[in-house]
Amino acid sequence: MIQTDKDAYLSGIERVLISGGEIQQEIRKAGKWIDMSYAGKPLLLVSILKGAFIFLADLCRAVTIPCEVGFMQVQSYFAGTVSSGSVDILLDLQQDISQYHVLIVEDIIDTGRTLSLVAEKLRSRKPLSLKILTLLDKPERREADLRPDYALFTIPDVFVIGYGLDCGEYYRNLPDIAVYRT
Ligand code: PRP
Repeated sequence: MIQTDKDAYLSGIERVLISGGEIQQEIRKAGKWIDMSYAGKPLLLVSILKGAFIFLADLCRAVTIPCEVGFMQVQSYFAGTVSSGSVDILLDLQQDISQYHVLIVEDIIDTGRTLSLVAEKLRSRKPLSLKILTLLDKPERREADLRPDYALFTIPDVFVIGYGLDCGEYYRNLPDIAVYRT
C-alpha cells in the first residue's frame, strides 16, 4: 500500500535497536575480516536484493583489497518444509563464479530458508569457495541448517526495519535498525 502520511509512517518505528554508528563500527571490523580472509584471492561480493543494498554499499567501502560486486534478486516459495521450497532467480549474476571466491552479503538470516536455496544454486556453479556474511542473524527463528560464516549482530526475535530492511517496502532508508511497532 502506498503511504504518504508521515505521522503514520513514523508511528511504525517503536525504538532503535542498533544505531547507524554501531553499524558502521561493526562494518569496519567486517571489512578487516574480509581483507584478511581474501587477500590475494579473486573476490566477488554477492548481494541479495533488495534488503542488502545499503549494507553492501557501506561494507564494500570498508574493504581495501580488490573485489567485484554482483547482485541477485530472488523469489522464494515454500510449502511447509525447507526441502519443499524453491527459488526463482529474478535477477542473476553476470560473472562466471567458477573464477571467484564468493562471499554472499545478506541483510538478515531469519528462517534461513531463502539463503539455503540460493547458496545451493550458487554452489552448483562451482565457485572457488562460498561463504556467507550477514548483517543480522536471528538464530531463534532458524528452520534451515544454515550458519553464517560472519554475523555482525545477533538479534532476538523482533521485527526489524531500517538500513535496507523494510515493512511493506517502507523504512529501508532509515539510518538505524529499529523495531517495528506491530
Ligand atoms: C528478507 C531478507 C532475506 C530473507 C530472510 O528478504 O533480505 O533475504 O528475507 O528470510 P529467511 O531467512 O526467513 O528466508 P525479503 O524476502 O523480505 O525481500 P527483500 O530483501 O526484497 O526485502
